[in-house]
Amino acid sequence: MQFSLKSAAAESLATPCLIVGLFEGGKLPASAHALDQASHGYLSKVAKSGAIEGRAGQVQLLFDVPKAAAERVLLVGLGKEKDFGLRAYRKATVKAARTLSEAGVKEAVSTLPLLDVKDADAYWLVRHAVEAAEEAGYRFDQFKGQSKDKPRPALQKLTLLVGRDHGKAAEEGLRAGSAIAAGVALTKNLGNLPPNVCTPSYLADEARRLAKGSKLKVTVLEAAQMKKLGMGALLAVASGSHQPPKMIIMEYHGGPKGQKPHVLVGKGVTFDTGGISIKPAQSMDEMKFDMCGAASVFGTLKAVMAMGLKMNVVGIVPSAENMPGGNAARPGDIVSTMSGQTVEILNTDAEGRLILCEALTYAERFKPATVVDIATLTGACVIALGNVVSGLLGNNERLVQGLKAAGEKAEDRAWQLPLYEDYQESLKSNFADFANIGGREAGAITAACFLSRFTKNLAWAHLDVAGTAWKGGGEKGASGRPVPLLVQHLLDQA
Ligand code: BES
Ligand code: MN
Ligand code: ZN
Repeated sequence: MQFSLKSAAAESLATPCLIVGLFEGGKLPASAHALDQASHGYLSKVAKSGAIEGRAGQVQLLFDVPKAAAERVLLVGLGKEKDFGLRAYRKATVKAARTLSEAGVKEAVSTLPLLDVKDADAYWLVRHAVEAAEEAGYRFDQFKGQSKDKPRPALQKLTLLVGRDHGKAAEEGLRAGSAIAAGVALTKNLGNLPPNVCTPSYLADEARRLAKGSKLKVTVLEAAQMKKLGMGALLAVASGSHQPPKMIIMEYHGGPKGQKPHVLVGKGVTFDTGGISIKPAQSMDEMKFDMCGAASVFGTLKAVMAMGLKMNVVGIVPSAENMPGGNAARPGDIVSTMSGQTVEILNTDAEGRLILCEALTYAERFKPATVVDIATLTGACVIALGNVVSGLLGNNERLVQGLKAAGEKAEDRAWQLPLYEDYQESLKSNFADFANIGGREAGAITAACFLSRFTKNLAWAHLDVAGTAWKGGGEKGASGRPVPLLVQHLLDQA
């Protein structure tokens, strides 16, 4: 989609469609008063008629609004004025963009960025408008054959109205919003790919594609190198599959040489059958999304490059396919890790931590300022937090609080779970240094406990995105989360 910024009187704009908000109870926002007056109270009349009450999710398309230069006016419900915040603002923008696409409208002007939103200036209003409009326009139909819809005349150009004195902030918001939206789209695309296409090798090639013509340095470790480095846990996960594992390292040097990088580690299990501890058949197809942590690292780097952030960022993606097979790891197997610690694999379905632990040890060589891993790690996290917030744990309170705050600003929230020492006990093994699973209880926390044993020398946090990285059901698809959170985290450090 093409975006532009403008400051002008809404009623004087010749456009196929002008988007105007309406609060619950039929109250027009201040930014619509001039248009309402020019039209001799036509908008107020529509609002009073009850055709639209202003509830969130409601829309009403109007033609021939008196004295308006626009061909159409789309009224969009904003919900209760006293509850109106960035979240409702984003939802209204998504709804407007979807409605116009369905109506075949190709170009529009939105007055919504002129709204008063608590604690949000033009930067945030423009940034979230861009992200929301791109969200509304996202489609993944590259594998539709004969059933492909005719190309829908989706909304292609959106002009955002901003106040006269907000030029610079608005432009920055446009730049950040476009970069984040591009990162989110890449993350969704990778997540949505079928698992027979998106293999560890595919992800390695994707890293090379991302690096083309940019300042990204890509290194891919093959199984032989992993063996030399002692990455027995990662190799054990990959051993049941015909797909070779890859450890993908992407270094973005945007800051001064010698400045400590921020490292992102993403779980890249391209399909998780559970291995010998095999999963039930129900919804197993969704385990193609078990590489969404990896996909979010690609997406975040894409956004970082688009913004040209003056900082150093390293992405590390351990990638493997978790399959049963004659060579697969068994429950009871003991493997040794690059850290020197040994692990008893009591459940081959707890494979994410086995590949992440090797990447976390490998991360030490970059002497990072911070390390954040992102993983669709536990079903337990979905039970605890649902699909609203990502689970957040770590060994560095400053980093954890920074991520939580970043999530709030980016409308991509995370919630901290405790990583108390008391939980460590459950990983006890009678035969190795520790096991790869705890008991049935507190599964999201004990998974993080496992990772914490590989991050003692790092300022580290862990995002469990098992509930947030994709949606199931009728709207099945990758969400692009937590790219907005991660980009905000980096922006806050830059
Ligand atoms: N990829 C899954 C986690 C998952 C499950 C994410 C369902 C989203 C929905 C992970 O590899 C896994 O299987 N975890 C196990 C851990 C258990 C064996 C300790 C789980 O959550 O059941
Ligand atoms: Mn698993
Ligand atoms: Zn998994």
